[in-house]
Amino acid sequence: MQQRLSLSRAARLVGVTRGTLQQKIQTGELRSFDGMVSVGDLMALFPELRLESDIGFERVAKIREESFGKRLRERLLPSQEILAQRVFEQSRELVDLRAHLQRYHAMVVRLREHLHEQEMRAAGASPAPAAAAQELGAILDRELEAVLGGTDVPNPLAVMDDMLRVMSAHVVIHPSRHEFFVDGADTILDAALRSGLAVNYGCSNGNCGLCKARVVSGQVQKVRHQDYVLSEAEKRQGYTLLCSNTAVGDLVIEALESTVPGDIPEQQIVARVKAVQALGDDLALLHLQTPRTNRLRFLAGQNLTLTAGEASAQLPIASCPCDDRNLQFHVSRDAQDGFAQQVFGSLKAGEAVTLFGPWGDFVLRADSVRSIIFIACDTGFAPVKSLLEHAMALELSERLYLYWLATPRTGHYLANLCRSWADALDNFTYVPVAAEHGDALELMRAIGAGHPDLNGFDIYVAGPEAFVDSATATLLERGFPQTQLTAAIV
Ligand code: FES
Repeated sequence: MQQRLSLSRAARLVGVTRGTLQQKIQTGELRSFDGMVSVGDLMALFPELRLESDIGFERVAKIREESFGKRLRERLLPSQEILAQRVFEQSRELVDLRAHLQRYHAMVVRLREHLHEQEMRAAGASPAPAAAAQELGAILDRELEAVLGGTDVPNPLAVMDDMLRVMSAHVVIHPSRHEFFVDGADTILDAALRSGLAVNYGCSNGNCGLCKARVVSGQVQKVRHQDYVLSEAEKRQGYTLLCSNTAVGDLVIEALESTVPGDIPEQQIVARVKAVQALGDDLALLHLQTPRTNRLRFLAGQNLTLTAGEASAQLPIASCPCDDRNLQFHVSRDAQDGFAQQVFGSLKAGEAVTLFGPWGDFVLRADSVRSIIFIACDTGFAPVKSLLEHAMALELSERLYLYWLATPRTGHYLANLCRSWADALDNFTYVPVAAEHGDALELMRAIGAGHPDLNGFDIYVAGPEAFVDSATATLLERGFPQTQLTAAIV
């Protein structure tokens, strides 16, 4: 039987996103067997792959990292200890397989000898030995010769898959069946967050126990100190802390995941300014970093209340929860806004900003399989960027469209980033639209012309109040279902 791979592993091996392979399954280019694909089918679809020159999973990881800009990723090799354990596990599998093969081989040889004896005994007998037995003997001889004299070149994908197993572990979460890989020195929690999964956690530091999960199969290894003590009963049932452990090999765990804003607790964290960077004359990127031991749990698209000194503001988070330590905000210059004045004036790297939240329900519909249209106006791009980065981390297979209407006040201040996403991802389309403020109607006409049947989409709209009101009213007047429409005023 052909070796089969999960979609995540297959995508890594051939250097595309999981979404791309899902599209190929939907269009019938690739067969799927219970969510698995065969190595042979993959090789047929990507015949140009060669082991020596094309380490696909590194390529796709690089594309994603470059698309996300200078982001968190510390691409470290697993520690020597973890590597040794993974190699040990694979060696054990190999020894098992070898022992199995030897047993099968011995069985076939015994069977052949038995048939030969029967033939000899029956040589002088009458009637002549059954032709079927002779034929079976001949088949066995041929098969044995083929197996023993076989010089098949190993399938490069199978070889790459073995290498990938040593470098990173594959994890499946039950009951959602979400999958991700644990690379380098990552904890299981960090790897899950990086893949866009909202698993339950609190301190991310081994203290609170909120990231407790049950190991259904596979082994974990502690890589960080933990103060939280699991009870003996929990240990016996296989519970572990995701924030303190890494996966030794492929792993199946039972863990809680958040899907709605109500699952996320309110938090108060003192973060530090990492940088304030100009995005234009009247626009700044505020980069805050939380303490390593007190990171912010949020869903993509949510807001935070930021306080610096006496001044506060509520701003959408413009980055992905897959990096819960580095938080970005797009701040417009505003003489009436004390917080914005600090950002454009006195706020310097290293200074404290208190975060409170998160708030808001401008979040991705976790269970939807519809394609998505994001409509942003000016800094409405900030929460949309968070949603888009989250969708990319999840490797959604659905088509993603971004229509960004920009007035001269802001311009398309991160156009290069949007273009790099469009270059890197097959399923993403970027449409920049320059307009005078409030020109939502014109934009909606253009979107309607490009997509005659909008009902097959989820639509997310973010921007100034007048724009959001106009865009959502236009959609609803045209009969677009309210349940597929999510809006945020920025
Ligand atoms: S998140 Fe608190 S112990 Fe893991």
